[in-house]
Amino acid sequence: MRIKRLSDQAADALLLLLREEDTENFSYFSGLDTKLRDFVMSLISRKDFTGKKGSLIKVPLFDSSFKNLYLLGLGKKEKCGINLIRDSLAWGFRKIGRERNKTASVILTHLSEYKELALTLGEASGLCSYVFDKYKSKDENYEPFALEEIYSDIYAEKEISTGEKLASAQIFSRELVNEPGCVIYPSVLAEKAQEVAKKYNLDCEVWDENKLKSEHMGGILAVGSGSKNPPRFIHLTYKPQGATKKIAFVGKGITFDSGGLDIKPENFMTTMKGDKTGACNVLAIMRGVAELGLNVEVHGFMSVAENMPSGSAYRPDDIITARNGKTIEIDNTDAEGRLVLADALCAASEIKPDAIIDMATLTGACMVALGKWRAGLFCNDEKLAEDFSASSDRRGELLWRLPLEDENISETLKSPYADLINCGQRYGGAIFAALFLKEFVGKDIPWAHVDIAGPDFKDKEYGVYSKGASAFGVRTCLDYLLNL
Ligand code: BES
Ligand code: MN
Ligand code: ZN
Repeated sequence: MRIKRLSDQAADALLLLLREEDTENFSYFSGLDTKLRDFVMSLISRKDFTGKKGSLIKVPLFDSSFKNLYLLGLGKKEKCGINLIRDSLAWGFRKIGRERNKTASVILTHLSEYKELALTLGEASGLCSYVFDKYKSKDENYEPFALEEIYSDIYAEKEISTGEKLASAQIFSRELVNEPGCVIYPSVLAEKAQEVAKKYNLDCEVWDENKLKSEHMGGILAVGSGSKNPPRFIHLTYKPQGATKKIAFVGKGITFDSGGLDIKPENFMTTMKGDKTGACNVLAIMRGVAELGLNVEVHGFMSVAENMPSGSAYRPDDIITARNGKTIEIDNTDAEGRLVLADALCAASEIKPDAIIDMATLTGACMVALGKWRAGLFCNDEKLAEDFSASSDRRGELLWRLPLEDENISETLKSPYADLINCGQRYGGAIFAALFLKEFVGKDIPWAHVDIAGPDFKDKEYGVYSKGASAFGVRTCLDYLLNL
């Protein structure tokens, strides 16, 4: 979608986003012709539109340079932040595009007090139209999304383009995550990584089963052993000249999580194609970094395996050895994410980065703790936690910090037969998993673990989200790099 500067106002649709207070002050309508302004004012004085949060009305227009007027309520000013504006813009554009409007003008000057408004517009325009419907037959009633151009009175080309790139990276990840396990399995994801590397001039190393053995990647190998689709480990590198910082991203890439021999009950197994989001996000971030041309050295590590039950699957009671030599007793084969991440965190630590950020759909417990709209953040470094949280606030991908110190839960990591056990008691499961991962992070490396199990998969579309994969975290990570 193209975004242009609003000059002459003619367009199929006119979108006005108004807080309740804005309905009392019409000064920002000054760019509109008087007839239309009077019309909007009459809708407001008749209380057809009050600016109430969550209201969106369409009014067909006649004798106007617009075919349709859309009024969207942002609610009370004190409660309206940039994240509501982003979601509302996406919602408005989505509706406009579905109702056959090819062009839309949006008035934003009255909201210019919000920081990064133009960037947010770019994000919303990039995120509004995505749906995963490629496998659905399109009948004669099918209407493709029509919106092609947006004209805005707030226009900052660079900022808008940054927003568009953040959105495009996130959509790239969603497209991968939404593909089912029969389409994307480890070798396929490795090919996708190689394609991205080729296109964006990144280094890309893929380790297959043999290499995984010689490199002592015992966690990935164990988890992948039950599937006919063998596991892969992928390392992407973006290394611009003169970069002074080096950041590593690590992603859990379980292309399907059946639970393995500790098989999941049926209603917990659907959506587990989404268990590869961490890795897909990492690939999307690498692509985004290259598109943005950032001056930071960035490494992406993707641990990719399919967790399946079979005669060759790893078992409860097995004892495996991770890359750093630590042995792990398997208590539950469904706690597989931490095993593939263990090896990846070792590998990431070996390059001695300034920070490691891992993303994983790791625990149902994190979703129980924080709900489906917030990810859990675990971090061993205050500066990193602060910076990453600030990025998350700016991008509207909400986080909540959870403890990475807990003596009592740490005790339960112990196994009578091995150095560690892969799963403990039911309670505090997200913290247990984070403490487990910590055992594989190099000493003194600032590290953030983001458990995205909750917001990973959306039941229905809302704001910038479509039904299905959210690719939650991609924009936050890119924002973090942009503000290093
Ligand atoms: N991939 C799941 C976690 C998950 C659950 C992600 C729901 C998204 C939505 C993970 O591999 C898993 O199965 N975790 C178990 C761990 C348990 C066996 C210790 C869980 O959370 O139940
Ligand atoms: Mn699992
Ligand atoms: Zn999993």
